[in-house]
Amino acid sequence: MAAAGTLDCLQAIKWERPRLTILNQLLLPHRREYVEIATSEQAHHAIVSMQTRGAPAIAMVAALALAAEVSGLLFASNDEAREHIRGRLEYLKTSRPTAVNLFEAAGRLRAVVDEADGDVVKAYVDAAERMLEKDVADNKAIGKWGSAFLSEIDGDKVLTHCNTGALATAGHGTALGIVRNMWQDGQLGHVFFTETRPYNQGARLTAFELVSEGIPATLVCDSAVSALMAKDRDVKAVVVGADRVAANGDTANKVGTYQLAIAARFHGRAFIVAAPSTSIDLGMRDGSGIVVEERSPAEITTASGFTVASVAGGSGLESETLQIAPSGVNAWNPSFDVTPAALITAIVTERGVFVKQPGADAFDLCAAPADV
Ligand code: MRU
Repeated sequence: MAAAGTLDCLQAIKWERPRLTILNQLLLPHRREYVEIATSEQAHHAIVSMQTRGAPAIAMVAALALAAEVSGLLFASNDEAREHIRGRLEYLKTSRPTAVNLFEAAGRLRAVVDEADGDVVKAYVDAAERMLEKDVADNKAIGKWGSAFLSEIDGDKVLTHCNTGALATAGHGTALGIVRNMWQDGQLGHVFFTETRPYNQGARLTAFELVSEGIPATLVCDSAVSALMAKDRDVKAVVVGADRVAANGDTANKVGTYQLAIAARFHGRAFIVAAPSTSIDLGMRDGSGIVVEERSPAEITTASGFTVASVAGGSGLESETLQIAPSGVNAWNPSFDVTPAALITAIVTERGVFVKQPGADAFDLCAAPADV
C-alpha cells in the first residue's frame, strides 16, 4: 500500500498484506535498501536502532509488524490470539519512550482485540491497516491547514528541524508536509533546515526529501539558526513536528527544538508545531511528566557516514565511524527536549489550527475544516 502523492523513493513503510518492508533510514541518503520486518522483535530492533524513526512511523511499523507476525501464526482460539497480541503490544511499547504515537496506537489496537467477537487476527490486521491510511490523510490535512495559516504572515521562507516528512510518517509528513503544501500553493520561496545532530535527520533525510522534490532549500548547522533569523527577515516561521504534546501544549520534539523556539520568540517569528492528534497526550497535564529518551553518548562522541570516495564512485559504498571526542569524555545525549507552550504560536492538527491568544491559558481552535 503506497501513500498517494508520495514519491516512490520516499516511501518509508511498504505494506502489502501480510508483508511489511521498511526503508533502512540509517543508510539514507546514499543507499536505498528495504528490510523485511516479519516479527515484533524485528520491529523493536528497527525502532531502537533507528532504521525507522519519527513518531508516526514508529507507531505504524510496530502495528504493522505485529500484523505481519500474527498473519503467519496459527492460534488455537481467538482468546489465544488476543493474549498474544496484548503481550506483543506491551513489548513493542518498550522500544522508545518519548513519542506518544506508539502508546496511542497500542491502546487503540488493544481495544480492537478486546472488543472483537469474530476473527481477532483479522480485526487486528484491518485496524492496523486503517491507521496507515488515516495517517496519510491526517498529514495532508495538516499540510493544508498549516499552509493556509502561514499564508497570513508576511515573508516566504521558513525554517524546519529534524525530519518530519514522508520518511517519518506513513506519507506526506507533518511539519515537512506543511512545507510541501506551501510549495504546491506557491507560498514558499525557500526552506532552511537544520542538520539535526547527532543523527543528522535534517542533513540526511530532510535533505533527501527536499532534493528529491526539487523544493528550494538550504541546510544550516544547528547552531546557525539565530544568525539566520537575525540576517533574513523573510524567515517568517519555524515549523517543527512533535513526539508528544501535553494537554497544556508543552511539546516534546527532537532535541534543539526548544532553542529554536527561544530564537523565534526573540526575533519575533512564528513558532508552529505540526502534530496529528495521535501525537497529543491529553493524559499528560504538562511537559514535566514527559519521559525524554537518553541515547548512547557514543552517538555524539563519534560521527558516522559513508566515505566521500565511495559516494563519489557510486558503488560499493563504505560506511565509517570516526571518533571525534577524546576517549573517556563524559557526554549527555537527550534525544528530545520539551518546548514550553508559552513559546508556541500555533499547533496545527488535522482538525484545524489551535492558537493561544496572549494571556490565555489554553490553545483554542482558530480555523476549522469548514473554513477552508
Ligand atoms: O529520533 P527521531 O528521529 O525519531 O525524532 C523524530 C522527531 O523528533 C520528529 O520531529 C517527530 O517524531 C515528528 S515526525 C512527524
